[in-house]
Amino acid sequence: MPGTVLGPLSDIADGGAKEYVFGRGTTVFSMFVVRKGQAAYGYLNLCPHYSSPLNRKSDRFMNDDGTRIRCSAHFAEFRIEDGYGIAGAAERCWLDPVPVEVVDGEMRLAAPAP
Ligand code: FES
Repeated sequence: MPGTVLGPLSDIADGGAKEYVFGRGTTVFSMFVVRKGQAAYGYLNLCPHYSSPLNRKSDRFMNDDGTRIRCSAHFAEFRIEDGYGIAGAAERCWLDPVPVEVVDGEMRLAAPAP
């Protein structure tokens, strides 16, 4: 829901990512946020290749140098800024965005763009 507080941006190292899980069982909602400088980019934790989670370990969503989002199943890679698949099994596919805003250093779910 827009306005939901995720926590301080400082919870995520620059070039790192963090998973957020809401609900449980059949109603679980898993998303992650990538930090790039002072910006935060949110996506559903769902790879467009097999519709499975991108991570196998907690908060592990990035390639080795923190420049791309990487799926740990078959190593597809996505741009941080828009979730576009630029390499591997999900090339030319998109991650589903979850709008996130940073206000006074705090990350919140934002309203979708009109
Ligand atoms: S499930 Fe992500 S690349 Fe295959």
